[in-house]
Amino acid sequence: MITIRRISQDDLLYPQQCSLRETVLLNPIGLDIPKFKAMFPGVEERFEHFVAVFKHPSGERVIGTASLLPNYPESGIGKLMQMAVDLQRQGEGLGTRLVVAVEQRAFGELGLRELFCHARDTAYGFYQSLGWEFDSDVFMEAGIPHRKMVFCNSLPEE
Ligand SMILES: CC(C)(COP(=O)(O)OP(=O)(O)OC[C@H]1O[C@@H](n2cnc3c(N)ncnc32)[C@H](O)[C@@H]1OP(=O)(O)O)[C@@H](O)C(=O)NCCC(=O)NCCS
Repeated sequence: MITIRRISQDDLLYPQQCSLRETVLLNPIGLDIPKFKAMFPGVEERFEHFVAVFKHPSGERVIGTASLLPNYPESGIGKLMQMAVDLQRQGEGLGTRLVVAVEQRAFGELGLRELFCHARDTAYGFYQSLGWEFDSDVFMEAGIPHRKMVFCNSLPEE
């Protein structure tokens, strides 16, 4: 069974989450967690991390992750970052479940009005399939073409 969970940096699963980010996202572009922290000072400490956890007989395994930076760059807005699914488990809907969990947290619990991300060119279709929309032209980040994509809370305010 696979569950989606929100974890802090103190969680026993956090090292696995970092390892997955390095394997899927960071190492292929010459980065690792220390370099990521240097690129985005103070961000790691402010993240809310979401993980997809597979209950393996030998222990729990993190097979997907996404991180939410709430109230960034201003109150009411959040940034989705470090979205990664284990290479062997992509295309099974885990990325979708993770983004839905982030959206529920951001809009339902934190009361944010907008989420955005810097989407890699290879992932545009993924975010589009979830209703996210382009909000910028192509720009380079970490040597890769990206576009800003956004998703707004469409629920009426109480
Ligand atoms: C992008 C990523 C997070 C998607 O997670 P996933 O679990 O594979 O995605 P899902 O199975 O939930 O797919 C949801 C939908 O998006 C589509 N999709 C997934 N990845 C896609 C991609 N790279 N391009 C276009 N469409 C994609 C799927 O076909 C699916 O569409 P459907 O509902 O019509 O079948 C994952 O493939 C990944 O980790 N990729 C490498 C790292 C990366 O690029 N991260 C994003 C950085 S911005």
